[in-house]
Amino acid sequence: MCGIVGYVGSKNAQDFLISGLKRLEYRGYDSAGIVTLNDKGVPTLLKAKGKITGLESKVAQNKRPDSIGIGHTRWATHGEPSEKNAHPHKAGKLYIVHNGIIENYKELKAKLESSHKFISETDTEVLAALINHFYLDGLYPLSNAVVQALKLVHGTYGIAVISELNPTEIVVARSGSPLVIGIGHGETLIASDASALIGHTKKAVYLNDGEVATISKDSVEIKTLNSQPVSAKVETIQTDLAAIQKGGYDHFLLKEIMEQPTSLTETLRGRVNLKERLVHLGGPNLSDKELKNIRHLIIVGCGTAYHAGMLASYYIEQFTTDLTVDPVMASEYRYRHANVPDHSVALIVSQSGETADTLACLRELKAQGVKTIGIVNAIGSTIAREVDGGTYIHVGPEISVASTKAFTSQAVAMIMFGLTIAQAKGIKPSILAPYVEDIAILPDEIAKLLKTVPKAIEILAKNYKDYDHAIYLGRDVSYPAAMEGALKLKEISYIDANAYPTGELKHGPLALVDDRFFELVLLPEDSLYDKSISGVQEVLARGGHIIVVTNSLKFSLPVENVVKITTKLKLLTPILMNLISQLFAYYITTAKGLNVDQPRNLAKSVTVE
Ligand code: F6R
Repeated sequence: MCGIVGYVGSKNAQDFLISGLKRLEYRGYDSAGIVTLNDKGVPTLLKAKGKITGLESKVAQNKRPDSIGIGHTRWATHGEPSEKNAHPHKAGKLYIVHNGIIENYKELKAKLESSHKFISETDTEVLAALINHFYLDGLYPLSNAVVQALKLVHGTYGIAVISELNPTEIVVARSGSPLVIGIGHGETLIASDASALIGHTKKAVYLNDGEVATISKDSVEIKTLNSQPVSAKVETIQTDLAAIQKGGYDHFLLKEIMEQPTSLTETLRGRVNLKERLVHLGGPNLSDKELKNIRHLIIVGCGTAYHAGMLASYYIEQFTTDLTVDPVMASEYRYRHANVPDHSVALIVSQSGETADTLACLRELKAQGVKTIGIVNAIGSTIAREVDGGTYIHVGPEISVASTKAFTSQAVAMIMFGLTIAQAKGIKPSILAPYVEDIAILPDEIAKLLKTVPKAIEILAKNYKDYDHAIYLGRDVSYPAAMEGALKLKEISYIDANAYPTGELKHGPLALVDDRFFELVLLPEDSLYDKSISGVQEVLARGGHIIVVTNSLKFSLPVENVVKITTKLKLLTPILMNLISQLFAYYITTAKGLNVDQPRNLAKSVTVE
């Protein structure tokens, strides 16, 4: 959510800033800006509303050889998307870009109004003015002024600041919003996400909360807000360029759907022993005794990560006995006064590892003494670093705003965690074996599905693109899968889609069925198949426009469309069916001519509350 970049070195700063912002555009895309300084400190500040291409055209007309600068792509929080509200913001001779939210900006603004004429509605300009207040036109080092200002701030920030008075250094700081420093040869780069650094350097320093760094082209000095020096820990960026490119696909979303056989294989690598029908997860770092003692599993996530947790909870409950599994939405849970029973462990699920609500729950649960285990994708992210143990899902960068491959791997990783508990609790191997077998073949089953269905789904989607509303139905494990399918459709196609358990229809939602709605039913041939059929019949009897996704050969109701899949899976079919929902949402959205990868009003990695 919002992207920050910065450069100091001897190459062209504008070039890096624009290419870096393009890489981060999925984090926010309503306006963007950069400022660079020449060696005398003369600034070139360029901003544009809308996507980075707008800014890029402006830069093309204002090329500068400057070799220091900062940039930002915005997802609006305070103030509408506009050039005026776009970052960088200026106060005196300094410029700032900022991710996060300054919660006490109103009271700070009231105090600063006599010395600074505010031109934007943003909280960021308040922070700029506050730093400038302590900077006293360069009387103090910029980093001191930044520290003084940040001590007065409540909220979250990842910031980068430069001054016309010293065009050789950038000051960066973070609290609750990620910042990574790339170490190059005679150049130092900064970004809110390592993907902007790929191709420039593999060496990175991840700033921790409460740290401030002063960087020049060949040095990085880090200290805490209390002026304690911190030695920089240099880590290696694992991702390569191919992982962040579209690789021949029209959209990242399609690429990410199609790469699930390999991304899931990476999740499973070294963790499934098919011969012994066992799973092994090293990362959680829990002894057999600790695993055995777990009585209560809280699964915390937002959006798709929450759905993955809910789906996993249905499975884990099937094969464990003395374990309660409680999937919770982080944005709600953080303010609930939930009693956390003894012997609880929390799974903290997040693709980005930066989601503010999920992070807040993690911190709260840790404070209550609950052991926290991360199910995270982004390596080195805040959640990954703060959990007590964890399992990376290793699906590679997920760039499209709508989460797809992460969902599949999050769900499977959590089922594996459940199996790990069950193994330690001595649940009969014959009960667990079918789950392990299904997990082991899932990547191949996904590959088979993706070889056969996309064309048919593309054709099907064209027939449903003009509906205003959709109802997704599923029962048991298919219900969370239906929830995820509905979320995918609504967030990228803007069709109002909601999911209901098939058995709940007659308790209200059935009243909706009319020609403005279509219904997509996930109907695996499982123990509730016959009961789910009754639900389909109820909708059919009321003239519903029904699509059924099923692996059953006996399904014969005269619904509008049937997507028949064949699979060897016995238990994990709903996870496979979710890929049909992903493709369906994708093709409806392309048929409507909408921006698939960057849906309106949204951004990836929600680092604000
Ligand atoms: C939906 C989607 C969001 C995220 C949610 C959590 O497609 O992407 O609902 O799943 O914002 O994000 P992470 O997993 O990064 O914590």
